[in-house]
Amino acid sequence: MKYYGVFGNPIAHSKSPMIHRLFAEQTGQQISYEALLAPLDGFPAAVAEFFKIGSGANITVPFKEEAFALADQLSPRAQRAKAVNTFKKLSNGSLLGDNTDGAGLVNDLLNNQVLLAGQKILVLGAGGAVRGVLEPLLAQAPAEVCIVNRTVEKAEQLASEFADLGAMTACGYDWIDAPVDIIINGTSASLSGDLPPLADTLIKASHTVCYDMMYSKNTTVFNQWAQQQGAARTLDGLGMLVEQAAEAFYLWTGVRPDPTPVLQALRAQL
Ligand code: ATR
Repeated sequence: MKYYGVFGNPIAHSKSPMIHRLFAEQTGQQISYEALLAPLDGFPAAVAEFFKIGSGANITVPFKEEAFALADQLSPRAQRAKAVNTFKKLSNGSLLGDNTDGAGLVNDLLNNQVLLAGQKILVLGAGGAVRGVLEPLLAQAPAEVCIVNRTVEKAEQLASEFADLGAMTACGYDWIDAPVDIIINGTSASLSGDLPPLADTLIKASHTVCYDMMYSKNTTVFNQWAQQQGAARTLDGLGMLVEQAAEAFYLWTGVRPDPTPVLQALRAQL
């Protein structure tokens, strides 16, 4: 038996234990996976205790930056993200920090037949969630990724940090009105049911695809807006959640699970 878990605070409602249990059943892996509540001021100690027996862990809010600082080694994508959502204990006992969030987003978009290469993409928000997905997104060779943020300086900072990986621009919400191919909402606005101040002209009817990195039982506020504007398709972040988990499961076990039935089970349970 190998031991895995997810660290967060709060963590009781995490869907990760269910996702990994289903992956393990599907692939015949003998694993235990639990939700691990770490004290806000005691994350390093909780990690040290767990890895006396643990083989790997996921890390969620609010510990991803602390996990980045704690890792002994970092994958290139975690280095770029400056955040770690997955630890793997290596054979020499050291902790590898990885970040599977961006791969989760890109895999979910590709699973849904959303073409990324050559497309003009708006990414809303310039916080940790957006930073975490930029490298894998740019690896798909979009024509341009424009970071849109209320605080424009933060968008400019991110755009310059990732400019070596592709065509990056930055702007404020009131600078943009031309239609784009894809809009990805990476702001935390959905959490409070708010909508970023978007122009009504950004969506080309029956063409633009909108993706909310958040998910909820009912259509998110951003996706409601997109549907009202005639977006070709709206997708929410439940697929990203399952895909980032699949990527972590693969890192740990070397086995790639099929995310489709797990996503269906999760959606049914919402
Ligand atoms: P996270 O780790 O989830 O990315 P964060 O680092 O606090 O959280 O970043 C939140 C992002 O959502 C920021 O880009 C924030 O914009 P500002 O940098 O201008 O504050 C954005 N955001 C939050 N609420 C928003 C709203 N109501 N409208 C537009 N953007 C919002």
